[in-house]
Amino acid sequence: MSMRTSIHGQWSSRWIFILAATGSAVGLGNIWRFPYLTGENGGGAFVLVYLLCVIMMGIPIMMAEILLGRRGRKSPINTMETLAAEEGLNPNWRFLGWLGVLAGFIILSYYSVIAGWTIAFIFKTGMGDFVGANAEQTTTIFSELISSPGILLFWHSIFMFITIRVVSRGVSGGLERAVKFLMPALFVLLLVMVGYAMSTEKFLDGLKYLFIPDFNSLAEKNLFSDVFLPALGQAFFSLSIGMGAIMIYGSYLSKDSSITSNCFVIAIADTSVAILAGIAIFPIVFTYGLDPSDGPGLIFISLPIAFGQMPFGTFFGCLFFILLMFAAWTSSISLLEPAVTWLVESKKMSRIKASYIAGFIAWLLGVLTALSFNYWAFEFSFAGAIKQNGLFDIFDILTSNIMLPLGGVLVAIFTSWLMSRKSTVDELGLGDSIAYKIWRFTIRYIAPIGVLIIFLNTMGFFNIFSINN
Ligand code: TRP
Repeated sequence: MSMRTSIHGQWSSRWIFILAATGSAVGLGNIWRFPYLTGENGGGAFVLVYLLCVIMMGIPIMMAEILLGRRGRKSPINTMETLAAEEGLNPNWRFLGWLGVLAGFIILSYYSVIAGWTIAFIFKTGMGDFVGANAEQTTTIFSELISSPGILLFWHSIFMFITIRVVSRGVSGGLERAVKFLMPALFVLLLVMVGYAMSTEKFLDGLKYLFIPDFNSLAEKNLFSDVFLPALGQAFFSLSIGMGAIMIYGSYLSKDSSITSNCFVIAIADTSVAILAGIAIFPIVFTYGLDPSDGPGLIFISLPIAFGQMPFGTFFGCLFFILLMFAAWTSSISLLEPAVTWLVESKKMSRIKASYIAGFIAWLLGVLTALSFNYWAFEFSFAGAIKQNGLFDIFDILTSNIMLPLGGVLVAIFTSWLMSRKSTVDELGLGDSIAYKIWRFTIRYIAPIGVLIIFLNTMGFFNIFSINN
């Protein structure tokens, strides 16, 4: 049995790990990305497939990632190399770590830009810009924001800077405090929003849209490329799996903590936040005649209308975007951490220097995203669907729909087909129970076969990539 500890530290308790991992999982993915993808990809059917992906692939893969992290106790790159060597496998498994680091840079780069929108909205709501605003006005305010590269770059830089600051001091310090108070506060505020949604005319329509798959609306869609693939990608994105973020958090977890129960807590918290966000948003979208398939601006256009109408809306609106920014912050640090730990371990850099270097690379990439909403906007089609925001959409699709599922499946294959059964039994601490067998079965068969079927079908039915103009 390995008794290694990480040179980067250890969580002070099991709860801190759960808070940190939930902090990583809950973020823009739940509140910004989940609703707009649901709206773009057909509502209830998308939600259903997303939930299936979380249960049948997400949770088992999260367990595998934490297991690997805790056994290796290093950055994902070095963890994969070490574990491969210990199991008598090819050390090139370290490239799985590299795939994750690359995905992390790309995701962080655009994540920071969107988090920047959130910061901009703290000020807009706080100054009462939305009081009494209708859908047209909120749409204009949002479009003005994303067509101003200077403002986007400014907030992007601020957000990247605060991400770097936390990572440079070691993730466990400030994070513990931030997550303990802010996450529950975000949850409560979402309940307030749901309360407002219940008072709108179209509350039931919103619920139906989310929970009852409308197979007629799917008639013109390709099930695989329009529903399954984005739902799969969203499950991975939202749970922070497939790139080593949860793996590195697992490497700071003490040996006596149960991986299985921790994962269930994290996944349930993450999924409930996404569903609550959906329940809060769609009734507003329908009541005010917005189009659910409006894309990445959806929450920035719909929620401000609600804040402009409800009692104490300026206060709640401002608070909401503040909490959303914190949720994004506790997620973004987990995107940077794998690269930073690698620089510290293998390049012998100080944590501070490593954080600034890695953060700067992500910042540079993010500049491209910020410009893809204005100067460099172009349209293209992916697997039959038209995408409007050029590089932003390319980065997003490449990472969530391709790199994360691929990374996750490789983790699944490594843990269940290649590592010795004894190592995983030892690490999961479930013994040779039914629970262990279910886990091993899902990760051996369901995850790889599921992802393969979705990938192949997506590629087979369409010219997957063509530029329109
Ligand atoms: N899960 C986060 C969110 O929903 C984003 C995130 C953090 C992430 N770390 C990740 C996504 C690692 C994929 C991989 O906002």
